[in-house]
Amino acid sequence: MSASSAPPAKTDKTGDVQKYWNENPLGTQFRADESLEVGSEAYFEHIRPRMTERFPWIVKLIQTNGPVFKGKDMLEVGCGMGFDTLMWAQHGVNITTIDLSDKSLALARKNLARKNLSATFLNASALDLPFADEQFDVVYSRGVLHHTGDTPRGIREVHRVLKPGGTAFICHIYRRYSWMYLISKFGREPIEFKDGDPPVTDFFLQPEVREMFADYARCDLELQHYRAIPTMRAGWKATLYNKAFCPVFNLIPTPLAKLLAYKITVRAVK
Ligand SMILES: C[S@@+](CC[C@H](N)C(=O)[O-])C[C@H]1O[C@@H](n2cnc3c(N)ncnc32)[C@H](O)[C@@H]1O
Repeated sequence: MSASSAPPAKTDKTGDVQKYWNENPLGTQFRADESLEVGSEAYFEHIRPRMTERFPWIVKLIQTNGPVFKGKDMLEVGCGMGFDTLMWAQHGVNITTIDLSDKSLALARKNLARKNLSATFLNASALDLPFADEQFDVVYSRGVLHHTGDTPRGIREVHRVLKPGGTAFICHIYRRYSWMYLISKFGREPIEFKDGDPPVTDFFLQPEVREMFADYARCDLELQHYRAIPTMRAGWKATLYNKAFCPVFNLIPTPLAKLLAYKITVRAVK
């Protein structure tokens, strides 16, 4: 299947979701230097720290599990600009990755090509994966399913395409009553995204997440992102967030801050 041949899944929100991520591929908001040519080596290296080092638990997850899945078939759901795809590929994992956004797919392909690496890139929906049952050894996804409009369906699709005994890493499911949830709800200002919020962002309680993974033989949850990271947005709310909220919130001792952790990563075995 070519990069743009698959039609998006017919859900209420898929069209809006696709339009948003084509207009705002994740990562492009971090190009502070407009002179950098999009897709160049300098461009990717300029953006990379904001997409990888900023989330050390993701780097660690891939460093730890990359060697385990060397030579195995991985499906990545929602590659965005492909920084995680690149890290997995550097470990010799055999990756097929999908995304709804052609712009993101094109950037991801370039991101790997600059390191002489490749993957299979497809335009497809997480809610209608164009793969046979039990095709993959491992499925990885970061920050995607809660933006689709139907997270439970996305998780069922992941389960379907996994081989028995296969592993799913579903990272950065947004958590209800986290510090970010409270800021978004009461601040009424997109903080995480520079150019307005995605059309769908769902937040879940931990028991709701466990329930969505009930079909798996094993499911472990880890809470992450319990420190506030400055926003790229402008305006008085963003300034207040950067100058007042972040420094004060980040003084909270770790055990307390973890209670308000923002993201959940699930490692589930089918
Ligand atoms: C927050 S970004 C995360 C990108 C990447 N995983 C990362 O961490 O850099 C969300 C991505 O999910 C993709 N996406 C959203 N809904 C999707 C769907 N139904 N099917 C496939 N991709 C989808 C978007 O196009 C976007 O690239």
